[in-house]
Amino acid sequence: MAFSSSNGSEESELYHAQIHLYKHVYNFVSSMALKSVMELGVADIIHNNGKPITLSELASSLKLHPSKIGVLHRFLRLLTHNGFFAKTKVQEEEAYVLTSPSKLLITTKPTCLAPIVKGALHSSSLDMWHSSKKWFTEDKGLTLYQTATNESFWDFLNGNPDSLIMFQEAMAADSHMFKLALNECKHVFDNLESLVDVGGGNGVVTKLINEAFPHMKCIVFDQQQVVANCSGNENFNFVAGDMFKSIPSADAILLKWVLHDWNDELSLKILKNCKEAISHKGKEGKVIIIDIAIDEENDDPELTELKLDYDLVMLTMFNGKERGKKEWENLIYEAGFSNYKITPICGFKSLIEVYP
Ligand SMILES: C[S@@+](CC[C@H](N)C(=O)[O-])C[C@H]1O[C@@H](n2cnc3c(N)ncnc32)[C@H](O)[C@@H]1O
Repeated sequence: MAFSSSNGSEESELYHAQIHLYKHVYNFVSSMALKSVMELGVADIIHNNGKPITLSELASSLKLHPSKIGVLHRFLRLLTHNGFFAKTKVQEEEAYVLTSPSKLLITTKPTCLAPIVKGALHSSSLDMWHSSKKWFTEDKGLTLYQTATNESFWDFLNGNPDSLIMFQEAMAADSHMFKLALNECKHVFDNLESLVDVGGGNGVVTKLINEAFPHMKCIVFDQQQVVANCSGNENFNFVAGDMFKSIPSADAILLKWVLHDWNDELSLKILKNCKEAISHKGKEGKVIIIDIAIDEENDDPELTELKLDYDLVMLTMFNGKERGKKEWENLIYEAGFSNYKITPICGFKSLIEVYP
């Protein structure tokens, strides 16, 4: 980037540094603008319009007060710059179309990620960050969330049914993406007669697996308050329990987005219980982990940034962590397994097959 006002490299470096810092300070504006537009349902309106939509048409569909048309334009300008919308012309007037990222906000599509936007940018996820200095200076082993609110995020969810539903909907939305990944990794589930999806939430992933393998006996295993009102069918059942105590036996155990919620000590406990649950299969059993694997050397910087962002989310909310290959390996071997294989899936996650 050239700076006409600057003659010397020192000033130029300073200006670059200023832009870098300001950009990171104001990153939240892009996130919140995205959330605002998601809440308005802009993606649905453009999608239902079936053709590019002008600003005035969009404002009219949203029933906006005329004073807010300029506001909408400025939100869309930023989000268009960020790749969420594209512009075209309809009879000389500017019109908006959806791009691949904003198509993920169409609520009638199974790939809709609006619940993730809603959950991740909800005040219950964000407010704690104002207590980070207090958290850093205390030595209490609490999460940032606990420091800020005096309760764990799990306790908060358990005491707030609406928030628990919001959390489960966000998890379910993320899990729908797994349908695409399942085509790539179907072989991992071949020949399994039974599977327990530990911490399987409301069962979106298990249902997809059950649909692909109708003869496999599938169990979604989660906390009582999560599975209490869930119902399945003959080969797709919900069982309540505590994965830190014991896990129902099966040919394979699935752990999707579970271990990153926990530190190494507790993850080890879960993995050992998984090993016990497949022990009747001898060397034939396996644990299938779907989680992030940080790979700073080989991933592009944007992907690494997302993984590192997730790491801090897991740290601050749960005392959990995202792990690199070496950390996964240490955990897996320490739990008594003998081998593993990591395959990238779902864009930013990995499927880790773990063998006894
Ligand atoms: C991050 S969510 C992942 C949900 C699901 N696997 C998915 O990917 O959509 C973690 C899940 O672990 C469950 N969980 C937490 N503690 C548990 C426990 N002690 N025993 C069983 N499940 C637990 C939570 O209720 C939640 O559904």
